[in-house]
Amino acid sequence: MGESHLAKHTHLVPMASLDNAFDEAELAEWDVRLRKLVGDAVDRDGYCCELKIDGAAVSLTYRDGVLAIGATRGNGSVGEDVTANLRTIADVPRKLSGGNWPPLIEIRGEVYMEFDGFERMNAERAAAGEPVFANPRNSAAGALRQKDPRETARKPLRFLGYAFAVPGSGALPFSTQWELLETLASWGVPTPPHRRQCATLEDVHAWARELESTIRADLPFAIDGGVVKVNRLTLQTELGMIGGRVPRWAIARKFAPDIAETQLLDIEVQVGRTGALTPRAVLAPVEVGGATITYATLHNFELVAEKDLRIGDTVQVKRAGEVIPQILGPVPERRTGAERAVSVPTHCPACGTAAVRDEAEVASYCPNLECPGRRLEALAHFVSRAGMDIRGLSYQRLEQLIGAGLVQDAADIYAISAAQLVPTKGAKGEEPSGGVPGFQAKSATALVEAIEASKQQPLSRLINALGIRHVGAESAKLLARSFGSMEALQRATVADIEALHGVGHTMAESVREWLDAPAMQSLVQRLAAAGVRMDEPRAASADGAFKGLKIVLTGTLPTLSRPEATELIENAGGKVTSSVSKATDLVVAGEEAGSKLEKANELGVTVIDEAELLRRLGR
Ligand code: IVH
Repeated sequence: MGESHLAKHTHLVPMASLDNAFDEAELAEWDVRLRKLVGDAVDRDGYCCELKIDGAAVSLTYRDGVLAIGATRGNGSVGEDVTANLRTIADVPRKLSGGNWPPLIEIRGEVYMEFDGFERMNAERAAAGEPVFANPRNSAAGALRQKDPRETARKPLRFLGYAFAVPGSGALPFSTQWELLETLASWGVPTPPHRRQCATLEDVHAWARELESTIRADLPFAIDGGVVKVNRLTLQTELGMIGGRVPRWAIARKFAPDIAETQLLDIEVQVGRTGALTPRAVLAPVEVGGATITYATLHNFELVAEKDLRIGDTVQVKRAGEVIPQILGPVPERRTGAERAVSVPTHCPACGTAAVRDEAEVASYCPNLECPGRRLEALAHFVSRAGMDIRGLSYQRLEQLIGAGLVQDAADIYAISAAQLVPTKGAKGEEPSGGVPGFQAKSATALVEAIEASKQQPLSRLINALGIRHVGAESAKLLARSFGSMEALQRATVADIEALHGVGHTMAESVREWLDAPAMQSLVQRLAAAGVRMDEPRAASADGAFKGLKIVLTGTLPTLSRPEATELIENAGGKVTSSVSKATDLVVAGEEAGSKLEKANELGVTVIDEAELLRRLGR
């Protein structure tokens, strides 16, 4: 574990790991080994099959049903105490519901990140010039080990529980793994979806095939296979552990890795909205995990050097968790000597300005605030959902508006009129002239209305939209809530900004530098003159639609992320809680809502969907 700022925690019962079976034959061998020891007793309750969640394993100690300690797995015997950080995860119950829990238990499970949360976080980090995480597992593990729990709270972490340990031999209120999971769920602990009780090994094979071919593709988070467990708990005890390390009664059924080899044709340099220059691999098209891949992000040039990638190399490509193609590394044996080394860009590919290396040396960036390459990215960010949320202004439309000479910077957007967008009909036989291709009276009016509506976005959105280096959505909120208005922010010194909790020196300096740039000062002035709101409404208006209500979110909502839904509810005076109880006023359920929905129905709590939530919020 190395040097650490975290205290050590000794697990009451060690946390085991799992052996792997990579195909049906290996799984069958495991089954044969079992049956040699316990015979056909396995057939009585069969197997319990679960998702193998690709996250960071944790153990949660509950005393009298109250979360007392939360720790990482560490080496299995001793982990690190991350209690304060775990308490910030809404899925982790502070208190167990029900009442039949043993007085002292360790609940084991996985802290993980969903793909969309992971990608959003990485995009924000990249835009802010911070190093990105390679996969959701690393980012979950990193988020868990933060020094400041407020940092952890900002990360989109989730939790699923799949096992527990009771020190000593306490009598348990159930006899199979399946019932164990149902019991965990009844205590308010979220449990892995898509689990199945299988009577025969053939059923287990069928489940694994389904997992690999269909279930996996629809999951919002990464799994690295399934876990097959002997269902009956007395048999688990009888089978025991191999060398105290892995259980005989469970095995990980891993998928064949989605790895392919192809040629690295080129490394392109892209300019991000904050000027970050990032490498992008251009590949000879290759199929991996059911999709054809031609590009892969490389995040930064340090990674290129670390992997010693050369143009012309044969490289191994992997699809990490279905979405993000990743380059594992070159295949040096295939080198012919004709490969070319890749160098860190010394100039911006879009404007030619000399590139600057940042402090951490992981990224170089274009310092030119007027760089045309940065401009399009910056405008796309400005109008995006996390920014001013101007619907109907897609990337392509922005490119067209820039091409038509209507837009150069964000303030220009507010000067667009419908008349400028609609091409005027030519006389008979002549081409229409002026305007922007594809616009008609109706779509032009709709866009102008969307632009007009965006003027009411709060300051926090505006600050995020402006794309200041090192300032992401969360920091923008913090700045807006703390200073209240653009004027107050403009008066703030680096020391004032740095004094805010969660703001470091780098960010404070970056904000001040941005505010001091003459081009940005005039941009803000023009935005204000156009009527763009420059202040932050008071948060959590106590007389909102959800004043005083306790609301639980469960499942995946069709359009809102969890942090977005939470913000909307809190702004309307509601409180988002993690588990459903009699005190819950409302449950908002999306796709794959599991035990919380069941519990709500059991207790007769009102359940609504996203559409109804938005309706009640008057949106
Ligand atoms: S059971 C004694 N069930 O996989 C049983 N583990 O490669 C130990 N994991 O360390 C674990 N999903 O972090 C179990 N449904 C699941 C799991 C799971 C993910 C992780 C766990 C374990 C690792 C072993």
